[in-house]
Amino acid sequence: MHDPTTLAYAVRRGLTATPKRLPPFLFYDERGSRLFDRITELPEYYLTRAERSIFEGAGEAIVAAASRHAGAPLTVLELGAGNASKTQVLLRALVGLQGRTRFVPADVSPAALEDARARLGREEPDLDVRPLLATHAEALAAARAWDAREGTPFVLFIGSSIGNYEDADAVALLSQIRGGLGAKGALLLGTDLRKSLDVLLPAYDDAAGVTAEFNKNVLARVNRELGGRFDLESFRHVALWNDASCCIEMHLESTRAQRVRIDALDLEVAFGAGERIHTESSHKYDDARVERLLAAAGLGRFAVFCDEQRRFAVHLARSRE
Ligand code: AVJ
Repeated sequence: MHDPTTLAYAVRRGLTATPKRLPPFLFYDERGSRLFDRITELPEYYLTRAERSIFEGAGEAIVAAASRHAGAPLTVLELGAGNASKTQVLLRALVGLQGRTRFVPADVSPAALEDARARLGREEPDLDVRPLLATHAEALAAARAWDAREGTPFVLFIGSSIGNYEDADAVALLSQIRGGLGAKGALLLGTDLRKSLDVLLPAYDDAAGVTAEFNKNVLARVNRELGGRFDLESFRHVALWNDASCCIEMHLESTRAQRVRIDALDLEVAFGAGERIHTESSHKYDDARVERLLAAAGLGRFAVFCDEQRRFAVHLARSRE
């Protein structure tokens, strides 16, 4: 009940707050994880393709640089791995460099982890895949408990997942990651770059309406799991640019005044016409912002890689002694 990682807690907290909000981890139930996979294939959603192209072009250089200070084989821990499809490119490069490699995909979605395990088990015989159903904090606690035989941690926080965090929270998470790296481990951080709104806005409001469905799935999930009575037709997907915070925001906007009951919470929530629930911020970065966040967390960047069109960047960092 008071565990902030549960659906019930987050929904009660967020829908009784002003302004209303729901945290983005609620997107990723089984249906939401599948919708997110579809988003990554949309023509407008360039992020996944851009990051994959970096891994395809520079995968060997990335894993070689990450290994340089490791002193032992790297064990890969991916936070929020999803189905780990881009990661496969990097894992192959790492197997090429060090032979048999342990991969720990961590995620809160059992369905996504099962997809990752099944595909990698079939396609990558030299990977030792150990799925971990865990939040970021839990996964990093597990990494801190690894002993030397389990390898040097190579933590992947890619896909611009960090973009969901306000800077202060991003620094707190990066500091936790630093704790999981120890002295020799490395972090690979993926960040979407600030760019024209002609590119950014459609990426979060696609023509086929998949992102709208992904956003509304959070209400559908409240209906399914908490006996919510949300009428999905009376909420509208909104994606907008917040220039002050340099982020895309997603909201769900009530198209009319209404009251919505949520049976399992014994709660009734009132919405005004046009009132919004803030469901996600996706921050966009420039180099200075990344450097600042890493430094504030006690991390030093030692390499950076961009795609050809400079849409996306991945950074290698490690603890500064
Ligand atoms: C997985 C958090 C990186 O912010 O771009 C995709 C999620 N939201 N479309 C992002 C998302 C809307 C995505 N991240």
